Amino acid sequence: MTIDKNKRTLTSSGFHVSQDAPVNTDNPIPTPEAPAPDVLRVAYMEIQVTDLAASREFYVDILGLHVTYEDDKEIYLRSAEEFIHHNLVLKQGDVAAVGAFSYRVRSPEDVDKAEAFYTELGCRVERRADGFVRGIGDSVRVEDPLGFPYEFFYDVDHVERLAWRYDLHIPGELVRLDHFNQVTPDVPRAARYMQDLGFRITEEISDSDGTVYAAWMRRKPTVHDTAMTGGDGPRMHHVAFATHEKHNILAICDKLGALRRSDAIERGPGRHGVSNAFYLYLRDPDGHRVEIYTQDYWTGDPDNPVVSWDVHDNQRRDWWGTPVVPSWYTDASLVLDLDGKPQEVVERTEEKEMDVTIGADGFSYTRADDDEDMPDWKKGEFKLGHQL
Ligand SMILES: [Fe+2]
Repeated sequence: MTIDKNKRTLTSSGFHVSQDAPVNTDNPIPTPEAPAPDVLRVAYMEIQVTDLAASREFYVDILGLHVTYEDDKEIYLRSAEEFIHHNLVLKQGDVAAVGAFSYRVRSPEDVDKAEAFYTELGCRVERRADGFVRGIGDSVRVEDPLGFPYEFFYDVDHVERLAWRYDLHIPGELVRLDHFNQVTPDVPRAARYMQDLGFRITEEISDSDGTVYAAWMRRKPTVHDTAMTGGDGPRMHHVAFATHEKHNILAICDKLGALRRSDAIERGPGRHGVSNAFYLYLRDPDGHRVEIYTQDYWTGDPDNPVVSWDVHDNQRRDWWGTPVVPSWYTDASLVLDLDGKPQEVVERTEEKEMDVTIGADGFSYTRADDDEDMPDWKKGEFKLGHQL
């Protein structure tokens, strides 16, 4: 089909495409006059863990991330294709929580821009010329308007890219950090602020009343660097690493089974509707959620179409129609303020995705134009308490 770019168009795949993201807010965060920093990409996440040895076993011994530096209080890890110092910092602490969502910017001047941007927004801003963690220089950390600890840096130590070191790779090798996923009560408000920060929306889930349940947004030319998921927040929903192919994800499942660690598998493997990626969700020893992700699509053109999913479409979260487990909707990690204290969680007041799909007979569909309800055996899967 040829698509009229000026219209919202129903595709043969069952979702709509449009040029502009249909995400509007009547409660916007003011747009700063200071220009936004030029964000290159998602760079690393700093997470606090309560048992560093157990986390090391999970991320290094099982998932195969590579150690750049470690001592008895913190471990710095990177994926196989990474050349900057790290993609994940594990820090021993009293409470399981996220210390930083960190982005790399294009130049040292963009760190200045980040500082000015958030200062104008009235956020708490802290800048350290020597950085907040090992391997990274001049950085700005902020408590952003949504309550998330965001970081921006340019200066970083380079380390060896291990892409060619196949002797070190495992069958489920993690090759890149792909994205963050954040839980926040008001998705349109969050999306508008991220657009001010220079992000572009690629996909979203909403309903015919205009309630937006989630939005995906990118700087690098993939489906996302981060996503905003509607829920009680600020919390961290997951951090996602990319692997090369689908079979790598199956290898991780087989390994977890062989190690009698199948309880680490929360959801999947499967194929997403949103993003078209193949996925697997794991929970680390503290319950932090990690996604293994592969094969989404190129989004780098300026007129890349925005994909809109109906919240009642059974195939939006899983293209094969596999139900989402309740914990995936409800659980997420706390985030820390710049003093290392957990941020207060604010309840979402709008409808929640779980409530309008699971537990609502006849609300969901496989084919939007079917006259009849789903068969009874399928409906049961979407009701809480009907899973054996
Ligand atoms: Fe994800």
